[in-house]
Amino acid sequence: MGFTLSNQQQLLSKIATGNGHGENTPYFDGWKAFDSNPYHPTTNPQGVIQMGLAENQLSFDLIQEWVLKNPEASICTAQGAKAFKDIAIFQDYHGLPEFRNAVANFMGKVRGNRVTFDPDRIVMSGGATGAHEMIAFCLADPGEAFLVPVPYYPGFDRDLRWRTGVQLLPVACESSNNFKITRAALEDAYEKAQKANIRVKGLLITNPSNPLGTVLDRETLKSLVTFINEKNIHLVCDEIYAATVFTQPRFISIAEILEEEEVECNRDLVHIVYSLSKDMGFPGFRVGIVYSYNDAVVNCARKMSSFGLVSTQTQHLIASMLSDNEFVDRFIVESAKRLKARHTRFTVGLEEQGTTCLKSNGGLFVWMDLHKHLKEQTFEAEMALWRTIIHQVKLNVSPGVSFHCPEPGWFRVCFANMDDQTMEVALERIRNFVLQDKDAVVAIKKKSCWQSNKKLSLSFKSFNFRILDEVSMSPHSPIPQSPLVRAT
Ligand SMILES: Cc1ncc(COP(=O)(O)O)c(C=O)c1O
Repeated sequence: MGFTLSNQQQLLSKIATGNGHGENTPYFDGWKAFDSNPYHPTTNPQGVIQMGLAENQLSFDLIQEWVLKNPEASICTAQGAKAFKDIAIFQDYHGLPEFRNAVANFMGKVRGNRVTFDPDRIVMSGGATGAHEMIAFCLADPGEAFLVPVPYYPGFDRDLRWRTGVQLLPVACESSNNFKITRAALEDAYEKAQKANIRVKGLLITNPSNPLGTVLDRETLKSLVTFINEKNIHLVCDEIYAATVFTQPRFISIAEILEEEEVECNRDLVHIVYSLSKDMGFPGFRVGIVYSYNDAVVNCARKMSSFGLVSTQTQHLIASMLSDNEFVDRFIVESAKRLKARHTRFTVGLEEQGTTCLKSNGGLFVWMDLHKHLKEQTFEAEMALWRTIIHQVKLNVSPGVSFHCPEPGWFRVCFANMDDQTMEVALERIRNFVLQDKDAVVAIKKKSCWQSNKKLSLSFKSFNFRILDEVSMSPHSPIPQSPLVRAT
């Protein structure tokens, strides 16, 4: 028997009946358009290409090669089956020691061995998704807030807010200085929270950034450390794209900043979120990590991790793979090389047709600037363009509004979840669209300068934050079958 909505609201919790997950939003129009008509080079060449998934699929041949060479790493092979029972019955929420050692070692390697990580501070969770919720539960009570520079990964709205009741408050960053996080913007956000009587418990940053694909420089990192120490609030650093940085400037982990002598920091305030979803390309394994410098947080998070442990079978496999230093070293170098080649081909292809992206050197996506293709500089026009891109250009890209971008016209386009040929088809489609978009040409001629547009766009900020609630995005699709299975 089905429930009516009001029945449901009486019988179920607010969390169950609320829309905190973000699944029932227009964002999924894109997923649905892709799901109902997925591109395939021979069976469906007119289908929608999935460019909304930040997945790293460029180096899977290396993983497969390793798996074939190391059959004992799996407990489901003749060579590995003798470990089956021990692995199947292991349930300690500290995790397999060899797993924590291997992950700590890997985290050091992807940071160029400039820092080391203590395996005893590694707490498991179900992907970075679970890690973020766990850290929010540890650091803040319902109603309290984290500051988050915009644009930011839309999943944060689900991960940090939904079940915890914690709020996320935007720190305004703008294209005029490449979305740099400034002290003034931080102070401004902090002050606004105070005026609204909201207690700020922390600052959440993503470095390298999703969706920008950029890294934070040393000075910015230091200024963030100074800021959180002065305010006595936490700093949560999502570093899950650490190994996707493929060219200079190199990635600098917050762990390195803490090691610097001149940096004064209460380490109890600093926490790293990590996962193998991007750097290794294993989002399906749900290997997430909270690495906290605060003993009480490590203790509490470890207890909470009972709700989202990484299966021992996965721990066993990962421990074995990541302890193979030779393989890991080769993988890190080769993966970055392939990402660089793909990024270069894609961005050069876009530039040839006059489409620019924010200059980036990491991540699995580019932040594409289509503001000149907007009919007007509004978020409504951005949504209209987005629908055109999905339904006519047949590319599922993600609109800036879902990343809380304060300026209309930016789109995140993922480039590492497909093969070379599919990427070329996507480039061709963008090229055709750009050429045919006569309005854009007219707009370019008539265009008042971008700066004045930007002033206009800022006046849409309140609108932006209203529609954000309607256009949130989740990487965890309600679609039961992985679309990528069909995309390859
Ligand atoms: C910045 C950021 N944090 C966290 C996540 C979630 O990662 P996971 O698959 O490990 O849960 C993502 C996924 O896209 C992300 O981009």
